[in-house]
Amino acid sequence: MMLHIPRVLSPDQLSEYRQALAQAQWVDGRHTAGQAAAQAKNNLQLPPDSPLAQRLGQGILAALEGNALFMSAALPRRVLAPRFNCHQAGQAYGLHVDNAVQRLGGGELLRSDLSATLFLTAPDEYQGGELEILSSLTTHSIKLAAGDLLLYPSTSLHQVCPVTQGTRLCAFFWLQSMVRDAEQRRLLFELDQSVQQLTRELGAGHASVLQLSGLYHNLVRQWADI
Ligand code: NI
Repeated sequence: MMLHIPRVLSPDQLSEYRQALAQAQWVDGRHTAGQAAAQAKNNLQLPPDSPLAQRLGQGILAALEGNALFMSAALPRRVLAPRFNCHQAGQAYGLHVDNAVQRLGGGELLRSDLSATLFLTAPDEYQGGELEILSSLTTHSIKLAAGDLLLYPSTSLHQVCPVTQGTRLCAFFWLQSMVRDAEQRRLLFELDQSVQQLTRELGAGHASVLQLSGLYHNLVRQWADI
């Protein structure tokens, strides 16, 4: 399941992020790619352990904790601190699949179930630079508004098309979901969205809302791996 989550960052947060990133010390992105991915990668990245990357990353995670749509779709168990990349004219990140396992530090590992890209520049600030995601049926070409986030399966082949003009800034991260199976996760998301809608229409105390809400929580209990 691919999901567009609008307005993860407010316009005020966005301008603060843009100001900070304009003065940041970027390094060659190949330093942080796996061996196979490094060959496809031609971009700039903030060192993940730099104080700026950590501060901005924490701000994104805090915003997502309060984002009901993100929490419902991802059911996050572990989240890697967001990283930041920059593609300038002539740069791209060719077709690749993200690493299956990431190290969180302290010996903890994260299985990447979902990948997330948060767009920090508006679509009209750069030419090219689409995020292309290949599914079995079609290729999705994605360029979202600044502040919007795309959640997509980490199993997908994907690429950042060459930027031909301007600069493309994004944050990206991976997460391990409490529900490993993508189909189970999609069913839970649809059920949760329906329960939210019925709650608005009928009220939280309505017998059917209570029953469906109970069903949702009991399915999470069946399928969650925590
Ligand atoms: Ni990737």
